[in-house]
Amino acid sequence: MKVGVFDSGVGGLTVLRAIKEKFPNLDLYYLGDTARVPYGSKSPETVVRYSLDCAEFLSERSVDVLVVACNTASSYALDVLRNTLPIPVVGVVEPGVKKALSVTKGKVGVIGTSATIRSGAYQRKLRDAGVEVLSRACPLFVPLVEEGLVEGDIAERVVKLYLEEFREGKVDTLILGCTHYPLLKDTIQKFLGNVNVVDSSDAVAEELSLLVEDEGSGKVELFFTDMSQNLNRLIELILGRKLEPEIVSEWVHRA
Ligand code: DGL
Repeated sequence: MKVGVFDSGVGGLTVLRAIKEKFPNLDLYYLGDTARVPYGSKSPETVVRYSLDCAEFLSERSVDVLVVACNTASSYALDVLRNTLPIPVVGVVEPGVKKALSVTKGKVGVIGTSATIRSGAYQRKLRDAGVEVLSRACPLFVPLVEEGLVEGDIAERVVKLYLEEFREGKVDTLILGCTHYPLLKDTIQKFLGNVNVVDSSDAVAEELSLLVEDEGSGKVELFFTDMSQNLNRLIELILGRKLEPEIVSEWVHRA
């Protein structure tokens, strides 16, 4: 089976990695819209338009299921994508919420880009389930990860800056509502101690079990809309191996 995964950039490879670990035989196609990243600071209309473009690119590869790895795109474009495409579309918000609800004692925190937090997508679903919610945008986390600063003094200081208010019993569970944040998970977990830190990338892979059989040739094809700075280094950091990406910059001009 073929699964398409898209994200605003390279961070969504954390979701691809989780899918690959659970389903090694699937054929995976990944599109990272590096020419237009970040989505996290764009308007809802722009995020929807870009998401439709990405879905079209992957549909041309005849994927059986589409995974929206980007939390910002999942927050704004999921309904439009589901209404437009003839295949199942899996976002990251629902699986992340489901996983958080399975472990929380009633107080859940959620962090993400400014757009994701502003959309209220996570907060609504959590409140509907009857839990208390504390949310915060953490805009410095994405550039921190892109610079490879996932641990050490600077990472610890930025984590403290954003997450101080989530300590000391304020929440018992924290959802990492952004593709890049799983790479900061160890630093965040160290800072928050006993809090359950929920990584929505694993939750998405679990959700896929309902939709796919682990069948195929196990190939992974990576497409990016621009040869951004640090691209190869980040691919290796996230996937733990070198993989040659194909740059499809002409496509983004057509889209
Ligand atoms: N992929 C985005 C997300 O998960 C983070 C990067 C961006 O702002 O585009 O929300």
